[in-house]
Amino acid sequence: MTRESWHTRLGFILAAVGSAVGLGNIWRFPWMTADNGGSAFLVVYLAIILLVGVPGLLAEFVIGRRSQRNPAGALYRLSSGSKSWGAVGLFGVVTGVVLLSFYSVVGGWILRYFLASATGSYFGEPGAYFDAIAFGPEAVGFHVGFLALTALIVVGGVRDGIEKATKVMMPAIVVLLVALAGWAISQPGAGAGLSFYLDFDAGYLQENFFAVLGSAAGQALFTLSLGVGTMITYASYLGDDHNLAFDGSAIAVLNTGVGVLAGLVVFPLLFATFGELTGPAAGGGEGALFVGLAGAFSQVPFGRALAMAFFGVVVLAALSSSISMLEIPVAYLVDEHDVERRTATLALAGVVLFTGGANALNPGLFGFVAGTLVDLMLTAGLAGFLVFVGWVLGKDAVEEFSTGASPGVRALGPAWLWSVRTILPLFLLGTLAVNLLALAGIGL
Ligand code: ALA
Repeated sequence: MTRESWHTRLGFILAAVGSAVGLGNIWRFPWMTADNGGSAFLVVYLAIILLVGVPGLLAEFVIGRRSQRNPAGALYRLSSGSKSWGAVGLFGVVTGVVLLSFYSVVGGWILRYFLASATGSYFGEPGAYFDAIAFGPEAVGFHVGFLALTALIVVGGVRDGIEKATKVMMPAIVVLLVALAGWAISQPGAGAGLSFYLDFDAGYLQENFFAVLGSAAGQALFTLSLGVGTMITYASYLGDDHNLAFDGSAIAVLNTGVGVLAGLVVFPLLFATFGELTGPAAGGGEGALFVGLAGAFSQVPFGRALAMAFFGVVVLAALSSSISMLEIPVAYLVDEHDVERRTATLALAGVVLFTGGANALNPGLFGFVAGTLVDLMLTAGLAGFLVFVGWVLGKDAVEEFSTGASPGVRALGPAWLWSVRTILPLFLLGTLAVNLLALAGIGL
């Protein structure tokens, strides 16, 4: 069977940016930022994207392109048939299913808010509305709707489905976010939001260093779709002519740009409406984005149209990420078990229908899966991939890194390998330890 590949270089970059840009940027990033001192969080987060995210992204690209496989098949083959390394890859496949199981529920909320924006039915009592719709049988229904849209695109395959869809989605997202940010910033009172977001607060960082570090690291992995094997899977459809370092940097910059833009929409709007981050809007819980923005949209001219535009953008962003999560286990079944793409997609969507349904019915389970479990799994997953690249692939990894690269980039190969071998896995294992201690109720 001939394996599919991306039509164009831009197709790959857009699809990978589409995977990275999603609810992580728009739903989670502003609230992590709000909960962790605004600008203090932003600075640490940007540093981790640059120092851990970009080299980590390149490590996943190297595994994917060298093996032309899904994560489980990739690690198994590249280690000459080690079952243990295959299991590390399989852990990523399972993480993909776990991620989709909460992501699809949030995608369902977004779909619902998009539709409800037409009538503004949540404008009156935003908090009560969110509480009423977030969990329960109706939430299951919207989760199923979002999952069905995801599965439809994935059935189309890499070229016809994912590449075409993201080529339209990504520019649309950027244009709409820029327009919304421009509008939000021009609102009276928006300046306080900008200052909270952008004026660096060193004192806050000093006092809360470990908490900010742990949240920023988890958020950086989540937003770049790292530690699952998404980027392994997407790079497995790549040819040798790609300059991985260039593509990886472009993807990180575009993804981070969209996150920062989302902050430029959310914070000015919130401060323009509420004056400060207090009350439910500042709660940082899963409904905070919805409650906060509903308050804003209900008070501004053309609020319904604006709300529809905003949630429309978020639906697109969420879909281009959810398809990448479903693609990991689909690629695994197609590659390793010769299952037909359509059958694999339907079977996996069937599994997520139930696991996501359980999350949509149980707020406690949802909170645990979307927060703690995902942070732990992503951190452990990326640490595993890095150790594999650093110690099993070793020099072969540098060779793969250099293939298609310019001489200047090739010169960086040994330094990149050194970081992937040593400092980066240590950093991730340290973060994992901080997160596990926090889970056990021990804060640093
Ligand atoms: N990277 C994806 C997002 O940020 C998961 O939503």
